[in-house]
Amino acid sequence: MTTTSDFVPATELGLDEINLADPDFWLRPDIHDALARLRADQPIAWHEHPDSGKGFWSFVDYDDIVAVTRDWQHFSSRYGIRAHHDAGSGQVRPGTGIMIEMDPPEQTANRKHVNAGFTPRQVRKMEDYVRNQAQRIVAEFQPGQEIDFVSDVAARLPMEIICDIMGVRSEDRPYLLDLSNRTLGDQDPEYGVDPMKGTEATLELRAYGVRLAAERLAEPGDDLFSDIARIQVDGKPLPEEQLAGYFALLIAAGNETTRTAITHGMQAFSMFPEQKALFLSDPVGLAQSTAEEIIRWATPIKHMGRVLTEDVEYKGVQMRKGEKVAIWFAAANRDPAIFPEPFQFDITRDPNLHQSFGGGGPHFCLGANLARREVWVLFQELFARFPDARAVSDPRPLRSVQVNGIKELKVKL
Ligand code: HEM
Repeated sequence: MTTTSDFVPATELGLDEINLADPDFWLRPDIHDALARLRADQPIAWHEHPDSGKGFWSFVDYDDIVAVTRDWQHFSSRYGIRAHHDAGSGQVRPGTGIMIEMDPPEQTANRKHVNAGFTPRQVRKMEDYVRNQAQRIVAEFQPGQEIDFVSDVAARLPMEIICDIMGVRSEDRPYLLDLSNRTLGDQDPEYGVDPMKGTEATLELRAYGVRLAAERLAEPGDDLFSDIARIQVDGKPLPEEQLAGYFALLIAAGNETTRTAITHGMQAFSMFPEQKALFLSDPVGLAQSTAEEIIRWATPIKHMGRVLTEDVEYKGVQMRKGEKVAIWFAAANRDPAIFPEPFQFDITRDPNLHQSFGGGGPHFCLGANLARREVWVLFQELFARFPDARAVSDPRPLRSVQVNGIKELKVKL
């Protein structure tokens, strides 16, 4: 059996050399040992961007992250949720002007507009549809074939599903996938290291949303975005700014994250063949706990950001109004105090109170039920057709302090 020490190389970094603001830190092999060191010795640390010198407070302890997430009065989302982007820099992100960058009660009111599409009941109704999509994708390949798992499988299921939910035409989907990649990959040389390139992609995504809303208003379909386009508040339709925000947020949030989870899941099943054999022995009974463990293992979003609304002293650390805070789910999800044997991929893990969908505050992931279902259905269908599927290359990671993305993973089916 693979042991923990195989994938947690010890770090030689001293405490003051660990900088979670540095995208290159996240490409190191020893990140988890470095995170463990921070958690033990400096669970609230100030980290600065290597380029601008501006920084943020890094929170890496599980309970502290829960506390920050729930205390939205002090740790606000309305000034931006990306600790690595500077407010007022002209950068626009998918959630700008929409619920993920609001606080209650405004956020609560906005979330109500879209909540009905993602309740457990609603998502249960989508089971057959999600399964058909997964079957259609895996049926394209033959046993023994080598594929790029990311572009051939993992990226496609979430994209097809969120685009169907939103009523996006099939021929436009590759274009939206490209925009979504560029939006979230703005620290990776392959997509354009310049953050303003990410902004350009986001603006295009938002403009597409405005155009689609106008079309859906003229000719409503049976999709979520037709419903959103028809919302009236005080007798008036939602402003374009808000329609653009809903569209870009749902496309971006529903896409990259689930793709990342599925890809890490494939890699984990390859590293832990006994877990794959276990899953194959009962793919229905183990569906939910497997999806949960894949999503913990992957931690697709490494951090979310918040901004202090006033001076706060927390556990002896004095923080000032206006300073940024990053809550690192990537660290919390490997905390041995919460997850026994955290580096063991264990599809029977119970309880599995991971923070991949957030620390439980008002912004807890709206798409969590949908994402879980996509993950388990995909692996049920993939392994039903290709029980021997396994990774045959190392993953090529995305350079990013926020998305734990994988750009390529060769898989032999
Ligand atoms: C494994 C896949 C996914 C992961 C790991 C993930 C992760 C997250 C995280 C970390 C947050 C912020 C939580 C916080 O700040 O407290 C979030 C919010 C959100 N997610 Fe997801 N997500 C996933 C899939 C999806 C999908 C499929 C959708 C599709 C609709 C979606 C839609 C959203 C939305 C709309 C928000 C903002 C909610 C709000 O501000 O009230 N996510 N997600």
